[in-house]
Amino acid sequence: MAIDFDRIHDRRNSDSLKWSDSSGKNAIPMWVADMDFAAPECVTQALRERIGKDVFGYAIATKDVRQAAVAWAESHYGWRIDPEWIVWLPGLVPGIHLACRTLLNSEDEVLTPVPVYPPFLTGPRAEGRALRTVRLQQENDRWVLDADELRRAIHPQTRLLLFCNPHNPVGKIFGRRELTAIAEICRRHDLLICSDEIHCDLLLDPGRHVPFASLGREIADRTVTLMSPSKTFNLSGLSCGFAVISNPELRERFRAATGDLVPHPNVFGYVACQAAYEKGEGWRLELLEYLRGNRDLLESFFAERVPGLKVSHVEATYLAWIDTRALGEKVGAGFFEEAGIRLSGGIPFQGPGFVRLNFACPRQTLQAALEKIAAAVRGIA
Ligand SMILES: Cc1ncc(COP(=O)(O)O)c(C=O)c1O
Repeated sequence: MAIDFDRIHDRRNSDSLKWSDSSGKNAIPMWVADMDFAAPECVTQALRERIGKDVFGYAIATKDVRQAAVAWAESHYGWRIDPEWIVWLPGLVPGIHLACRTLLNSEDEVLTPVPVYPPFLTGPRAEGRALRTVRLQQENDRWVLDADELRRAIHPQTRLLLFCNPHNPVGKIFGRRELTAIAEICRRHDLLICSDEIHCDLLLDPGRHVPFASLGREIADRTVTLMSPSKTFNLSGLSCGFAVISNPELRERFRAATGDLVPHPNVFGYVACQAAYEKGEGWRLELLEYLRGNRDLLESFFAERVPGLKVSHVEATYLAWIDTRALGEKVGAGFFEEAGIRLSGGIPFQGPGFVRLNFACPRQTLQAALEKIAAAVRGIA
């Protein structure tokens, strides 16, 4: 491996949200979804060059950055998009809000499978849209969205499916067959889809990401796809993402609502996005190898050393969704923080009885955290 993902970057007492420690517990942070790895050198180099130009006025998305996003979609997912379909965003959470605000009338409802990344739950409500949920089911070691459950959850006012693929927090990849079945249900019930695909370049199991909107013209016409280089290349602090909307009417509604309220990405976000998409593929492939190693270590560690906690197989993302129910109610995020590991609690995801662990860190850090988890669980046995 040419990239040293084992290198420890000391992020304590820095500007890092993940490593900020207001509780003073000094726990290993494995909560918010950013990685403890340096960005690809091609990105850092491009940023340095841009800083060298000295002037930092308002920026636009250049033809080159738009072309980089288009070329990435075609080479990675075989998905042909027109640069005109892209609406740039400073983050995908604003994209979730905009979708709820602009695609729906006030009486329309949103449906989302749970557990899920919390802004899927708070966003629709903040935009004044009622929210219904449908529970993902566990079949053996796989998470599934049962088609009958999905159909039953759709009510006459349901108008938008808020969808996450690959899925945060359960780490599932929805493949072509599952997506086609979901798309057919959406078509029959005349639903629009907001498909957040921010984790789509982080597939750990074999396969190729299938964008929801790539399933066909009719589905593309009712879909807003949210994408970003931020998770893949660890660029979240640079605030750059985009929506792909092929339907001109939906796109204009969405774009118009960005208005004065949602800023454009900053100049460094665009620069980093272009560099990552144009030159970051080698880095990404090495990252995936490293994350697979961490995922395998974590899954076998839990199976062998902490059988009371069940981790479902992580097909994609760097987030493990851990079932703590067998150990009782007191084993949650608070319990683990006392034991020196900061995890995300399941309740904001509508996943009580679970915690989420971010394993995108040097292996040594992961090993230390796993030992702390094992010791804490031994302590209650
Ligand atoms: C599914 C999903 N969407 C959106 C985001 C956040 O995106 P942004 O930082 O671009 O707002 C995350 C971050 O973890 C995420 O997991």
